Amino acid sequence: MFESALARTRHRVGLGLSVLVVSWLMWMLTPGMPVRHAPHAEAAVRQAGLVLFEHEWTPGDAMARGDGLGPVFNDRSCVACHSQGGVGGGGDARHNVAAFEAHPVEGRPDVQGGVIHSFATSKECRENIKGLHQFFPIVPGGLKLVGSCFVETRDFDPVKVQTVNPTALFGAGWIDQISDRSILQQGRQRSWEAIGRELLAGDLNAMKPGRARVLPDGRIGKFGWKAQFATLEEFVAAACANELGLGNPLMEQARPWARTAVAKVDPDLDATQFRALVSFVNTLPRPVEMLPDDPQRRTQAERGRALFGQIGCALCHTPQLGGVEGVYSDFLLHRVIDPNSREGGYTEQPNVPLPSDHPSPEEWKTPPLWGVADSAPYFHDGASPTLEAAIIRHKGDASSVSRAFELLPELDRAAIVSFLKTLKAPSEARPANPRSSAYIAMAR
Ligand code: HEC
Ligand code: HEC
Repeated sequence: MFESALARTRHRVGLGLSVLVVSWLMWMLTPGMPVRHAPHAEAAVRQAGLVLFEHEWTPGDAMARGDGLGPVFNDRSCVACHSQGGVGGGGDARHNVAAFEAHPVEGRPDVQGGVIHSFATSKECRENIKGLHQFFPIVPGGLKLVGSCFVETRDFDPVKVQTVNPTALFGAGWIDQISDRSILQQGRQRSWEAIGRELLAGDLNAMKPGRARVLPDGRIGKFGWKAQFATLEEFVAAACANELGLGNPLMEQARPWARTAVAKVDPDLDATQFRALVSFVNTLPRPVEMLPDDPQRRTQAERGRALFGQIGCALCHTPQLGGVEGVYSDFLLHRVIDPNSREGGYTEQPNVPLPSDHPSPEEWKTPPLWGVADSAPYFHDGASPTLEAAIIRHKGDASSVSRAFELLPELDRAAIVSFLKTLKAPSEARPANPRSSAYIAMAR
């Protein structure tokens, strides 16, 4: 009697637990909540943010609570680099930024990163690659004992410099709301499809699915060419600190490597200013898909959109993610850089491996293609001047797709480009008029 009651309880608890585990698993595998609402901010806050975005900062600026522009910086205003197609757009290659990573070496297992700033408010604070090598010296090669054999190793330069082109910020507030789970689910779905193609179709060249960038704290990165930030707010904080040298409530201003040259100061932006700037970027209008009025050109663009899906572009540039229609990105890291080019780096053996979650030099996040018609030049380094050049440049894990593109009749290739040209900056974007910076010339 007693025993059967116990068995019944055990049975119920077991059943309850299994239901819990199964529902948890199902919940984990669902894509999360889709984005439903447009980002919102009060008009006055947005206006205050716009003023800060367009402001040309100077050292000791009256609008700053600390030391203003600098001590190290890359330009004088946000809009200087984010101006194409209106305030908040992308930037040309002259506004590229030199980002560096110091890869791990024996005795320093972590990756350190930062920016080599173009300008400084004083001579002592200037930065260059030579100065960087003082902190991260080249590890000399030679005969090294590995296990019981001697192996010849080459010199290893831990410093990897990669120039990055300013991205457009239109619609950033929508991207900010895309759930981590929808990105993870997208990655899983692609993995299953690739495994399916390998097993069922024997296609061993099935496209590699890419991977989500898992940040050290477990969140998924969405912003930046390397998906290095999880939220828009954090990226804006880093942009203030690194590009303009503006300290803010989230991040200290970039300090020059010759740290002794500057004393610590108060944050330049207070909480109200910082919130206004974030709200402004967060509510920038989203890009639009604008079909030509001319019926013939319209048909061509529509055909291009269909081909974009058929030949596999949409496998990475997914038209919809997490409920955000028209974004054209999976937000996953892929290797599409030519493995034989200098920037490939596939073969280089670091003497201490990178942490597995950390992207390798040739991995880049699929950039959202919305607004792409107004954000030339292309690719992370802005080295592809046109859309055609950008498409042809896809190699590595996108080789089969770019080959499919090259095999299309010329009219079809043109149709795909016409389709990309319909992806435009929002027409309500405020016209940008970044002034030429005499001060910049002075600071060089
Ligand atoms: C010197 C040029 C320059 C200036 C000035 C600049 N940016 Fe940028 N911005 C860039 C570059 C380059 C990138 C791409 C960086 C990357 O992905 O690693 C970028 C990327 C961003 C992104 C990430 C967008 C995305 O979707 O990934 C945000 C947000 C941003 N900038 C905001 C700002 C704000 C706000 C300011 C002013 C405080 C600013 N930027 C000033 C060059 C600049
Ligand atoms: C395997 C995934 C993958 C496939 C397939 C793919 N792309 Fe890309 N695409 C990327 C990545 C990653 C980048 C950024 C690479 C970089 O910056 O180094 C990119 C960049 C681009 C850019 C430049 C965007 C910018 O803002 O600089 C365009 C345009 C583009 N792709 C169009 C296409 C078209 C058209 C196709 C189909 C012919 C295609 N892509 C197929 C992953 C992919």
